[in-house]
Amino acid sequence: MISPSVLNADLSRLAEEVARIAPVSDMVHLDVMDNHFVPNLTFGLPVIEPLLRDERIKADCHLMIDDPERWAPAYAAAGAYSVTFHLEAAADPAKLCSVLREQGARAGVAVKPGTGLEQVDVLGDLVDMILVMTVEPGFGGQSFMSDMLPKIRKARQLADRADGDVWVQVDGGVGPETIESCAEAGANVFVAGSAVFKSEDPAATIERLRALAAGVTREH
Ligand code: DX5
Ligand code: ZN
Repeated sequence: MISPSVLNADLSRLAEEVARIAPVSDMVHLDVMDNHFVPNLTFGLPVIEPLLRDERIKADCHLMIDDPERWAPAYAAAGAYSVTFHLEAAADPAKLCSVLREQGARAGVAVKPGTGLEQVDVLGDLVDMILVMTVEPGFGGQSFMSDMLPKIRKARQLADRADGDVWVQVDGGVGPETIESCAEAGANVFVAGSAVFKSEDPAATIERLRALAAGVTREH
């Protein structure tokens, strides 16, 4: 699945930018930043609420915010398809996962490059998606950290061990040069920001990324 990030699109024309890519995307990745958890600020619920309510858009909200217990449930209640919060910011990740599911969203947990997966392991079947960050969160256009590949492999093992359909998402520096190594390591949801929006034809780039990932036969 390809989930393009609009972070590097023209955010003053957010709805138009989303409309450009949503029909050819599996989800649309929306990066919420609060200038506390990460040193950057994007948008919050009041800005993206109409997009979350739009049934044509499968919104994949990536919350890079402090105090997700306070803010995340409202994204799910507003219609987000998937809501991912950072483990580093959550006081009770297990509880928050169940609240997000109760509100009708898939529950995702994200880890920064320096955070291990031990806590994800403990969460077991409560999680619908594990997001392995392959850059330090906060900005688009950074280089893919290939030393995160073993962590993607580990996340895939944890996902396969759970009973449900747990997805492994990669985010940061994913593009035509790096997507195959992510797929080989076991990721099945690929976030791509600048690779899509800085390309001449975003829709064609999404199709190309999907074909590259689909062409990989994963070794277990
Ligand atoms: C970074 C965000 C990413 C970002 C990815 O903190 O979480 O979703 O938009 O951008 P690229 O694909 O350019 O690395
Ligand atoms: Zn993101």
